[in-house]
Amino acid sequence: MLTSLSELAPRKAAGPKLAVLTAYDYPTARLLDDAGVDLILVGDSLGMVVHGMPDTTGVTLDMMVMHTAAVCRGVKRAPVIADLPYATYRTPEEAVASARRLMEAGATCVKLEGGVSMIPQVQAVIAAGIPFVGHIGMLPQSVREEGGYKKKGKTLEQVEHLIEDARALDAAGACAIVLESMVADVATKITLAVGASTIGIGAGVETDGQVLVTPDILGSFPWFRPPFAKARADVAGETLRAVREFIEEVRA
Ligand code: KIV
Repeated sequence: MLTSLSELAPRKAAGPKLAVLTAYDYPTARLLDDAGVDLILVGDSLGMVVHGMPDTTGVTLDMMVMHTAAVCRGVKRAPVIADLPYATYRTPEEAVASARRLMEAGATCVKLEGGVSMIPQVQAVIAAGIPFVGHIGMLPQSVREEGGYKKKGKTLEQVEHLIEDARALDAAGACAIVLESMVADVATKITLAVGASTIGIGAGVETDGQVLVTPDILGSFPWFRPPFAKARADVAGETLRAVREFIEEVRA
């Protein structure tokens, strides 16, 4: 069980793999921490699975600050990664100012989406003393420009770009890199090429760890679940059952 980001490098070398899940509120964060998850991610996926938005581009920094604070109140041990949302890191100065707000809310480190093109922002965040996690591959904040969620690493050009992105983030000092929705062999190559811990989601099983959106494994967001996420509970079904039972009892 991870207690600090300084344990990432030894875990990459010796295992076991990192188990990472998202949390957006106090009770979930407290349960994940008690269960022994290695890292907790306050992901901007909360735009969809908490706020019912169509994608993550409507998530604001104020929303992320509020959810990060709630999560951090529930966590005693696991390091907490907080996402910098869309359009809050357009310049290095903006990235540092936004990252500081998430750190003040209690985050251990921050994450933003992008590789080579984001290196000035990444360097500025790290130079400000803020631990940093990268995120490459399919980038949900770019869904509108890209016209959908597209798996990466299918062409030689994409493979080269992904490896350049990973190496650049690693050289800049990222302690971990999320590899989202990419061909498994490419994720394996990146994992072997970088010192940072790789955390995969829809990127095969050879990364240093795996991250999933918690409502996907709990079955609490039944309207959409990606194919790589196995539902291990049926919270939606159990909620409907309990609520219907309550309604019947009140009306009886
Ligand atoms: O926002 C999020 O939950 C994420 C994961 C999908 C990695 O960034």
